[in-house]
Amino acid sequence: MGGALAGYILAFDTSNEVIAIGIGQLDDASKTIGLVAAREVEAHRASNTQLLLQIDALLKQHSIAKDSLSCVVCGRGPGSFTGVRICMATAKGIASAWEVPLYGISTLDSIAWQAWEAGLRGSIAVVADAMRKEVYPANYVIDDNGIRRLGADCVIKAEELATEASADWLAGDGLKKYGGLFASAGPFAPEHLWTPSGRGLLLAAQAAWQDGSVEPFDVVAGNPSFVLPVYTRLSDAEENERIRLSKNDPKNLRTGVQPEKVRRDQRATARDTAIENAQADDEGIVYRPLDAAHAADVAFLEGQVMGSDAWTERQVLDELPSKDRVWWAAYAPEGSPDVGRPSRLVAYAGGWVVDGHLQVLKIGVASDLRRKGVARRLLALLAADARDLGAKEMSLEVRAGNREAQSFYQALGMEALGQRPRYYSDGEDAVIMQGALPLAARDVAGMELQVEGDDPDEIAPGDQADGSHMPATPLILAIETSCDETAAAVIDGGGALLSEVVASQIDFHARFGGVVPEIASRKHVEAICGVTEEGLAVAARRCGVPRIRWRDLDAVAVTYAPGLVGALVVGVAFAKGAAWAAGLPLIGVNHLEGHIYANKIATPDITPPMVVSLVSGGHTMLVHVKEWGAYETLGSTLDDAVGEAFDKVAKVMGLGYPGGPAISKIAVQGDPRAIDFPRAMLHSGDLRFSLSGLKTAVITYIHNEEAAGREVKKTDVAASFQQAVIDVQVAKVETALKQTGAKEFCLGGGVAANPALREAYEALCERLHVRLTLPPLYACTDNAGMIALVALDRFHAQRFFGLDADAHAHANLDDEY
Ligand code: KG4
Ligand code: ZN
Repeated sequence: MGGALAGYILAFDTSNEVIAIGIGQLDDASKTIGLVAAREVEAHRASNTQLLLQIDALLKQHSIAKDSLSCVVCGRGPGSFTGVRICMATAKGIASAWEVPLYGISTLDSIAWQAWEAGLRGSIAVVADAMRKEVYPANYVIDDNGIRRLGADCVIKAEELATEASADWLAGDGLKKYGGLFASAGPFAPEHLWTPSGRGLLLAAQAAWQDGSVEPFDVVAGNPSFVLPVYTRLSDAEENERIRLSKNDPKNLRTGVQPEKVRRDQRATARDTAIENAQADDEGIVYRPLDAAHAADVAFLEGQVMGSDAWTERQVLDELPSKDRVWWAAYAPEGSPDVGRPSRLVAYAGGWVVDGHLQVLKIGVASDLRRKGVARRLLALLAADARDLGAKEMSLEVRAGNREAQSFYQALGMEALGQRPRYYSDGEDAVIMQGALPLAARDVAGMELQVEGDDPDEIAPGDQADGSHMPATPLILAIETSCDETAAAVIDGGGALLSEVVASQIDFHARFGGVVPEIASRKHVEAICGVTEEGLAVAARRCGVPRIRWRDLDAVAVTYAPGLVGALVVGVAFAKGAAWAAGLPLIGVNHLEGHIYANKIATPDITPPMVVSLVSGGHTMLVHVKEWGAYETLGSTLDDAVGEAFDKVAKVMGLGYPGGPAISKIAVQGDPRAIDFPRAMLHSGDLRFSLSGLKTAVITYIHNEEAAGREVKKTDVAASFQQAVIDVQVAKVETALKQTGAKEFCLGGGVAANPALREAYEALCERLHVRLTLPPLYACTDNAGMIALVALDRFHAQRFFGLDADAHAHANLDDEY
């Protein structure tokens, strides 16, 4: 028998405007945490730049070595969405690199605990600011033994809460804004008790240890992937969608969703096998929140599946507008896959989120689609929403005689809790099953995981006779989260990419017609551990070693700009946490520079001077690469990006999102000279672009034709629009090549996937005797391999970022960092 386990625990929270840090000493025998140090600092919206500096300073001040820390605890909200994500992403990075357990603690519980510690007794209402005139309330009863919480997390209008609130004490930063409203609800606790403290976090952790929900020495239970924020709200886009879908309006049927199969066909062929092996749905089934227009279909299927306990259409319709209900449906494509409208409803599931609990009300699958993973996928979607709304567990009733269903739920980790006698109308008993919301260790939030790097046929420098790779130093892991792909890659000193992993969120954004920033940020938090772990695991396999650990690396790299700032923040906070914990240097990479370096994947000997065209959903620019690291932006767009124009035009044409692949696909059958769309800036004499006029011209054309009663030939519109884009792109590239004298031309960004554009460049470069590099499609779109390639150069130049590094929405290529 070994002695008692000991060590330190690190706890922190940045859910509010305060950075709270606590360091405690764990005593395994008594399950108590002794306070070693605590610190609270005003964050002033700078949590990401200050958090690690503060943690580092506090540890040093108390001479605590990083390797004596056995557990990490972080606040999981509710609070500011970004604040919670900074806290959690940093904590995930630290815990992953240290290989210690990570647990999330309610931010509000920690506030109640510090009230306890300050000697307050009786009832206490914590009212945390939720912005938009709303608050996160939580009620507790405090006595000498500790705190007891009443009710789960939720969000409510401050005014509404104020009319009913009454407690012996009030606390929480909501009082700063809405103090007036709560003046008669009870005395206010002293203001320093309104926000989290290090001591409160440690006390909350200690209580969780004693009740068994935190096991500070159990790395399996404390898998950092499992820890997720409490938001209590869906994103605005999802909330608005629910409201829209709950109304029975025929236009709800047009969602712009393309059947999954179609989208997949347009992806890079190199990835197809990986995609097929991932969680992709081979039936081409599409999943969407249930809308009122399909309520009758649900009732019909209910009748077939549930017999006399079937719900009526009215019952289903009544469910949809409630904010605490989550309903999803699955549709099998019928008819032409080009029409962006899935047709047959084949399965549905509905649940009620109440008191931190998802109660599954209904789940039904058409008989011909059973055993194809549809129910599992629907439950995962319910669970994901329920998690965002603050639920941790789920339960459901199943017929006592339905053994098959019971074993299915058992396989998802649920257990039979008891029976409800004669629950069903035919007198059969129900078995109550309950368990944690389903979440796998490498859960990447239901995204398709695309993996490169474990192809045994690909030979790279450093590969040995047995096929394994002998990695050269330095070994760098790079992370990319600037938009809607969570990606990780490992590169070695010889420039060999040992793994490239991408979890694409496209399915979560498609039905909104574009990337929803709040959803993107949430998905990055969910996927970041799984994606980086997979990146390390694939690289290890490639090198023929059992594993590569964070401490085996020589640096951690991350995209810090430009992009969606809330999305970038997740990658930056995670990378900083991991780099700091493993004692590695941090490398910040400009995303645009990554796209330029991606050309090295196709043409390793590509050498400046060269001209690069970056064309994506967010960028349109021509860059003169004078040498690696020395860039001049020759021109960029004055308004829309090229990909954006494709997406907007496709939306108007009802082709779905993303628009680029949809347009280029039907353009093949159209006449590019059919309609003479404007070629803006073609003769401007400079290298700038403008695309909003073209987009408007297409929209006007379609409206005019429709108004005149003429049929719009979509294929011709697509081909003519695409040709107008290409003519300008190619002309400007020709000017740029002549102006710079460069003999290399290459591409980056998602639009580089456009076949007609690629062909046009082939012709141009042949004529100008310039070498053309067209990177493989997977290297054109966002990935971490390109970030790793830049990072390798930065490592050699010893250019590193500090712990105060932050994410930036905007950054030019020419910016010096
Ligand atoms: O680089 P990317 O994956 O993401 C960023 O925008 O950063 O690029 C996505 C963009 C989308 O706007 C999409 O419509 C466009 O690239 N795209 C295309 C094609 N495939 C993707 N545009 C035109 N033709 C295509 N075949
Ligand atoms: Zn990009």
